[in-house]
Amino acid sequence: MRHSILMLSLAAVLAVTAGCQRNTAPAADAGKPDTATSATTAATQMIDEHSYAEPDKVKVKDLALELKLDFDKRQIDGSATLTLDWLDQKATKLNLDTRDLTIGKIVGERSDGKWEDLKYTLAPADKVLGSKLTIETPQRNQRVRITYTTSPDASGLQWLTAAMTEGKKTPFMFSQSQQIHARSWVPLQDTPSVRFTYTAHVLAPKDAMVVMSAKMEPGADNSGDKRDGDYSFAMPNPIPSYLLAIGAGDLVFKPISNRSGVWAEPAAVDKAAKEFADTEKMIATTEKLYGPYRWERYDMLLLPPSFPYGGMENPRMTFLTPTVIVGDKSLVSLIAHELAHSWSGNLVTFSSARDAWLNEGVTSYVENRIIEELYGKERADMENVIERNELAADFKGAIPPQLQPLSIKPGLMADPDEVDRGAVVYAKGAWFLQFLEQRFGRADFDAFLRGYFDHFAFQSISTDQFRDYAKANLLEKYPGKVTQEEFDAWLYEPGVPATAPQTTSARFDAVDAARKTWLDNGTLPAKDATAKWTTQEWVHFIEGMPEKLSTEQLAALDATYHFTGTPNGEIAQRWYPLAVRSGYTQANAEIAKFLERVGRRKLIMPTYKELVKTPEGLKLAEEILARAKPGYHPITTGSVEAAIAEGKAGKPATN
Ligand code: BES
Ligand code: ZN
Repeated sequence: MRHSILMLSLAAVLAVTAGCQRNTAPAADAGKPDTATSATTAATQMIDEHSYAEPDKVKVKDLALELKLDFDKRQIDGSATLTLDWLDQKATKLNLDTRDLTIGKIVGERSDGKWEDLKYTLAPADKVLGSKLTIETPQRNQRVRITYTTSPDASGLQWLTAAMTEGKKTPFMFSQSQQIHARSWVPLQDTPSVRFTYTAHVLAPKDAMVVMSAKMEPGADNSGDKRDGDYSFAMPNPIPSYLLAIGAGDLVFKPISNRSGVWAEPAAVDKAAKEFADTEKMIATTEKLYGPYRWERYDMLLLPPSFPYGGMENPRMTFLTPTVIVGDKSLVSLIAHELAHSWSGNLVTFSSARDAWLNEGVTSYVENRIIEELYGKERADMENVIERNELAADFKGAIPPQLQPLSIKPGLMADPDEVDRGAVVYAKGAWFLQFLEQRFGRADFDAFLRGYFDHFAFQSISTDQFRDYAKANLLEKYPGKVTQEEFDAWLYEPGVPATAPQTTSARFDAVDAARKTWLDNGTLPAKDATAKWTTQEWVHFIEGMPEKLSTEQLAALDATYHFTGTPNGEIAQRWYPLAVRSGYTQANAEIAKFLERVGRRKLIMPTYKELVKTPEGLKLAEEILARAKPGYHPITTGSVEAAIAEGKAGKPATN
């Protein structure tokens, strides 16, 4: 259920805040390019409505961070030195994005090499965008240094006490910068259209090991545990701000191959390395398809269960939820996904959140190819079918037509964290590429995609740039296979074109038959059949159930399969909403435990959304949140509070 990554109701989507309108061109001018408005379109396509930066005037080229982690105060004290590229020789100010930062001093380097104080103003905070920091730079300084402190409630950081960790001995902290949270721990141009190299020097308590989305120096390979409280990092490739990342805690390393391994708390590292043992094979497979892995190492950081996402593709250091460790590698498509971002996303990056499908859709396509290569077509097909069923369900209610095109008009996403079009960017995005693959043939389409990654390597691009590239290198190169109209329908029309290729799964057919037999006459499938079922089959078994089941039916399933209390979050994500809808209150205690233990939004939001639909459920949701909140990430708390508020207002979201 990838779509649940982004969630909220239509009402909230349409309530575009005043703060966001500032940069927003009239929506009618954007979307599908047409000759009459193409100039406006080109301009609006490049504008990032979620940033105060003006990258057409000045761009950050390099960021040098000096950071000190203070676990007691839950804050980072630091300085950020920005090296600037002044594109507009008349510009006299530098606008940066910040959120809840306390700014100390700002200095700029003069042409004679001396540093001088610079005047600045910090605008009142916009709820979504934070505070615009405007620095007076009449000299267009080559470098500007901002000294600052983060807030204990920084939206992009989570600070966990030792008691909230696996080992209970050392506190833990980690960042989550996507979509617009880097600004809560570094003052910068927080837009994916700007790329910069970075270095960081980080001081931390001696018992905390620090990792970042960068190369560790010296020692260079991130593979040793050098805990001395003083760490240096360098990212020599230009990256967008949402890929800035840091994590610190009682972390040890276990190698998987000579360029890959896992960082985790000592109690979890062996299990994690075992579950992710196929990582090297995944890297090799993706390289074979799409060219060399360009980031040298691919390491993973296993986070506490409060991590609000499944994974985050921070370069050189994917951040991961522990909820994918289920013992049978059935959820490692998450690794395939985050690894795939090393090409689609980190190498070729969307230039604004409106172009999310360029990151997530292309990645979901590549992910599925990796799964097919490593685990076979049956598994890849099952994962596809789950995605598409969900897309179909969302198109019926949760996602309004104007959010259904892959490329949407500006002004529709007030808060990129809370807009529900995940199914579009992931599933429809991947489906679009599967359509192109089917029409052009795998060999030619693979060559195209590989060429695309090479062509735009280390650049941030818009949907229009993708379209132009595909026009020249696909549509016109192999004429007669796909028309521009067919191509554009995926990008600019709601729904899915009727010509989309369909996928079926024989294994799911068997699951459908088993479910039907049980619903018809109460006979559960034979044990030796279900013994071979993987997570995907169980998910499909539950998802195909009627809207509600009787208490007896749910109890019968529980007696045999123990869904209530399952350690598998993917199953819990589907089972608990069904239990809540059906009034199966026997599950409440386990529901509460699950929602308190896990902070990954995709897994828990469907249950919260179901709970808030009734007065008793709403009460339970509030009680659970009150207990869970100290351990939740700010992003998760925000989503749960929004769901509860909607429940109270009597208009809970439709899914
Ligand atoms: N980049 C995303 C996570 C993300 C998206 C964070 C948008 C903030 C805003 C990551 O690659 C992702 O897609 N994670 C998925 C995993 C997946 C297998 C679909 C998730 O977290 O569930
Ligand atoms: Zn992704």
